[in-house]
Amino acid sequence: MRRVTLLQPNKLVLGCGALAECKRELSERGFQRILVVTAPPIAKLAAPLAELPGVVVYDRIDREPTFAMFEQLLAEAQKVRPEAVVGLGGGSVLDVAKLVAALADGRQQIGDVLGIGRLAGRSAFLACLPTTSGTGSEVSPNAILLDTTDRLKKAVISPHLVPDASYMDPELAVGMPPAVTASSGMDALTHCIECYANRAAHPAVDLYALEGIRLIGASLERAVVHGEDLSAREAMMRASLYGGLCLGPVNTGGVHALAYPLGGEFEIPHGVSNAVLLPYVLEFNLPAMPERYAEIAVALGVPRLADPVATARAGIERIRQLIRTCGLPATLSELGVPESAIPRMVESAMTVTRLLKNNPREITPEDAERIYRSALG
Ligand SMILES: [Fe+2]
Repeated sequence: MRRVTLLQPNKLVLGCGALAECKRELSERGFQRILVVTAPPIAKLAAPLAELPGVVVYDRIDREPTFAMFEQLLAEAQKVRPEAVVGLGGGSVLDVAKLVAALADGRQQIGDVLGIGRLAGRSAFLACLPTTSGTGSEVSPNAILLDTTDRLKKAVISPHLVPDASYMDPELAVGMPPAVTASSGMDALTHCIECYANRAAHPAVDLYALEGIRLIGASLERAVVHGEDLSAREAMMRASLYGGLCLGPVNTGGVHALAYPLGGEFEIPHGVSNAVLLPYVLEFNLPAMPERYAEIAVALGVPRLADPVATARAGIERIRQLIRTCGLPATLSELGVPESAIPRMVESAMTVTRLLKNNPREITPEDAERIYRSALG
């Protein structure tokens, strides 16, 4: 069996009151300079942390981050010289907080560390507090930035991006709008599905993936419709955590690779891009791993049928139903993506070789074009 390395934060705090626990820990550690990175609509959630001495709050991460946004934050961080960086927000906030914690000491530039395993280290303490449930960035070694010059999403992947501590407080997710709950939840579902049905799948990761899928099948619709339901919020935070724990050792595949161009060219949110493509890529992949897709279906709550292919197909139908009940778009046309964009999207998706190599079935440029066409609707 393939060797696998599992990394995770030294401390995982999950449950109501986790934000207060984070504040206590930062205080006990006696940091003199703390940079809190957050976003405008949720900056008020950072108020308890802002009471600590030496805190500077940066709340200008207002969409999926570009290199320019990161450089602005880095300039701010180099003024503050933080001993600790705290990311409080969705995946975009956490990704830039992680990168700035690693690069604030000026030893390396962002251009030096793109790709896998190129970060030399991280001197600042790093804590993450997710306010959405989906990206898994709170525990993963990944951070993604949009390069606006070639419209490609670029990744930094390094063990030094795994936070020191993550505080998953369901109360921070209560105010998340239904559309964000839905799209981030579908991102978590995509992480779990793509890491379970994956050429690099591993039994030590499968258990997180299947439990994440089960939690999402049972809780996502409730979290979307009843945002104040703390048990649904807690279940979704746990699903995001489990999905995130799959990303380091296994990572995603064809859905994420084909979804990136939708974010790059059309600025469609990451979770929406994944949700819209998920059923179409799964239909393409199904023949390569029918048994695995049948297990995914059963984890989603679908009854097991005698034939794994039939069970797997029922699972894809369950995903389509989830997409509908969560109010997410089912086709690229609904998102305003024109047919004429497909050749560019194919070209861009084919550059994401680090994920395509994981996909259960090889995706050629012709296959990618067929998948995008079927998703047009
Ligand atoms: Fe994702």
